[in-house]
Amino acid sequence: DGDVFKYYADGEWKKSNSGKSVPIVNPTTRRTHYKVQACSQEEVNKVMEAAKAAQKLWAKTPLWKRAELLHKAAAILKEHKAPIAECLVKEIAKPAKDAVTEVIRSGDLVSYCAEEGVRILGEGKFLVSDSFPGNERTKYCLTSKIPLGVVLAIPPFNYPVNLAVSKIAPALIAGNSLVLKPPTQGAVAALHMVHCFHLAGFPKGLISCVTGKGSEIGDFLTMHPAVNCISFTGGDTGISISKKAGMIPLQMELGGKDACIVLEDADLDLVAANIIKGGFSYSGQRCTAVKVVLVMESVADSLVEKVKAKVVKLTVGPPEENCDITPVVSESSANFIEGLVMDAKQKGATFCQEYRREGNLIWPLLLDNVRPDMRIAWEEPFGPVLPVIRIGSVEEGIHHCNASNFGLQGCVFTKDINKAMLISDAMETGTVQINSAPARGPDHFPFQGFKDSGIGSQGVTNSINMMTKVKSTVINLP
Ligand code: G3P
Repeated sequence: DGDVFKYYADGEWKKSNSGKSVPIVNPTTRRTHYKVQACSQEEVNKVMEAAKAAQKLWAKTPLWKRAELLHKAAAILKEHKAPIAECLVKEIAKPAKDAVTEVIRSGDLVSYCAEEGVRILGEGKFLVSDSFPGNERTKYCLTSKIPLGVVLAIPPFNYPVNLAVSKIAPALIAGNSLVLKPPTQGAVAALHMVHCFHLAGFPKGLISCVTGKGSEIGDFLTMHPAVNCISFTGGDTGISISKKAGMIPLQMELGGKDACIVLEDADLDLVAANIIKGGFSYSGQRCTAVKVVLVMESVADSLVEKVKAKVVKLTVGPPEENCDITPVVSESSANFIEGLVMDAKQKGATFCQEYRREGNLIWPLLLDNVRPDMRIAWEEPFGPVLPVIRIGSVEEGIHHCNASNFGLQGCVFTKDINKAMLISDAMETGTVQINSAPARGPDHFPFQGFKDSGIGSQGVTNSINMMTKVKSTVINLP
């Protein structure tokens, strides 16, 4: 069936024996745009067997050769940026320019991983026994970092390529094999990205990409005995995965409610620009988006006016036209966002713009005077809708930030660096940005969420380390 994109296993493109496919709905047209194979559990078993076998050989492949292949894949990925970006536009309505940026950033990330991998995995430790009480210098301990085995990567719809390679590249450089389960929306972009690794010439079975319904193969994949590590980015499914997974390392990033705390001395033009960028890029569908503004009452009117003036200028429409605000990923997502907006309306929030929606397209909306009894004060809309809460003190802002069950990132705007540092220390989030909107990149920076925002730390170096285990050999002298 030429209409259904094949999945990738054992170095080949295959049709599923299930005879079933999964439709991918274009968020803009709301029509099926592509179809992918609905892989069966039996096919997952075969993929795992191949991954286990391929990993054994790969672990013995010299580090510099692994790096060489990754550099090759990175170059091919960048060459293929146009067709991959096209998929991102059709599958997840990412604005065309941002879609290209995602692919280029991904190529850079793969190369950086190769570089970093040869450095950090190229050295181990040497310890001697006589530093510990009671010991003579009779034991020499040599440690190195060895691969975990099979890594399962599950990226989300918002960066189907970038958040896939941020798991694939560290896994491979560290000597692991990799099984990718892409999000349904973004699956074709991911398959195309995997094709670039195929063209680079990685050994058969080392990388595979299984598509299908989470309800059929999700638990089967995450609970599979062959899996030695799971790297997941997405929503609260991650919490149930971590409860069901075996005794294996987990890396999870599960969203956030990133607060933007604005002090009285802040540069309000800078804040407004960052609220626009942080709150409305890719229509707010980023884990690191600014999701609540906590502004000191005395500067709130002025800030809201500045943000309003910029919201009016945001273009709204199809991703093909590079509009700032594009349709959100699905109808159910749009309905969820609308639910939060209506709840806020009913409870008396001030609408800075009129609420407007056509299909999955939601116009950017700033909600002022939001109070803690409104759902939007706490929940993550994952859409172009941003609440403003006016605070009477910095402590109130910190309290709101820390009362959230999320703890991904946050930001604080002030000219007083001492205050900023103290606030950063007080905020229970994985990262605090001073005078800029939250963001994951540059991609070698550590990236981690506290509380329900995840476990483990990402970023190139941390991911490579996380996808290895320490092995020691002790030489005992007579
Ligand atoms: O939503 C996923 C998260 O990793 C965001 O990345 O680059 O938009 O800050 P970024």
